[in-house]
Amino acid sequence: MNHAAVIGTGSCLPKRIVSNRDLEQIVDTSDEWITSRTGIKTRRIAGAGEENFHLAAEAARQALEMADVPAQALDLILVATITPHMIMPSCACFVQAEIGAEKAFAFDINAACSGFLYGLDLADKYISTNPDMKILLIGSETLSARVDWQDRNTCILFGDGAGAVVVSGSTNRGIRASNLYSDGRLWNLLYMNSADSMNPELQQEQEGCYMQMSGPDVFKFAVRSMEDSIRRLLHRENLSIDDLALVIPHQANVRILNKLSERLSIPEDKMFINVDRYGNTSAASIPIALDEVNRKNGLHKDDMILLCSFGGGFTWGALLMQW
Ligand code: ACO
Repeated sequence: MNHAAVIGTGSCLPKRIVSNRDLEQIVDTSDEWITSRTGIKTRRIAGAGEENFHLAAEAARQALEMADVPAQALDLILVATITPHMIMPSCACFVQAEIGAEKAFAFDINAACSGFLYGLDLADKYISTNPDMKILLIGSETLSARVDWQDRNTCILFGDGAGAVVVSGSTNRGIRASNLYSDGRLWNLLYMNSADSMNPELQQEQEGCYMQMSGPDVFKFAVRSMEDSIRRLLHRENLSIDDLALVIPHQANVRILNKLSERLSIPEDKMFINVDRYGNTSAASIPIALDEVNRKNGLHKDDMILLCSFGGGFTWGALLMQW
């Protein structure tokens, strides 16, 4: 049986670094409050020439170069995002045009912060029926375009960036198992309106097309849901935390990740954290982290890596990958 195995990784962060001190100039907050509640110190914010698809395409170029796969050889491009710069065409189609992947078909996935995990699972399903496929999967966001910069509850949390992987079929490494969930009844804990409807009969009162969040509820649900999905996945695969080389979680908040480590007894050196530098980049956070570890030679042949996430929807899950 063939599985999707990562053969190249890449990432792209906007040039501009925004510190907590910079945010003190915009909203009533402090470096001390942000650091103690979230662990975030800086985030990258996109500027001119750094639209979502620009970041995504640059991350893709790096991943393709590492994989030694020309863009023309790609069969499929998937982009996990909740912040495409247009509703139509998809961000994936823009990436296709940017990198010149004429042979590929391309589409976006909206599963909020769990989009990259859902995308890996989907890529694995394509590979299982067509092992020769070369698939480019990107998580890419410009959340700075969709937060209310007057709202201190949300604007301090998010950042922009993109991460990418190229996957192809392998019989001895790759995705081993996944465990994905969603619960649409919880949509109002975390959501983002789209622009006003042009159909007068469908127009609704809304707060603006910004990220809206019930922070403490999201916090509790994030810890519970990731803990549960990891426990179930490890149990199903007859593995324990000791069998894992590394856990790469969605980077939302250091306190969430510390709680998760505490509940599952994950040693500090097995839990990868970079949210302090990039903030929450939603669907981009896991592939950015994966690329960072990979480029520092932090992953070794046969390492068992666990990815986990939660996000708007609600969506959540865990995935095991053998390197
Ligand atoms: N600076 C200073 N004070 C603030 C700020 C700020 N930036 N933001 C909120 N406060 C105030 C609040 O107004 C409140 O004041 P009050 O008591 O006078 O009303 C006080 O701080 C405490 O607010 P809480 O919401 O109780 O603070 P909490 O400890 O829960 O931390 C936080 C808030 C950081 C948002 C936390 O709930 C959290 O991290 N939740 C999860 C958020 C998350 O991960 N969201 C995204 C996930 S999905 C995705 O990735 C898209």
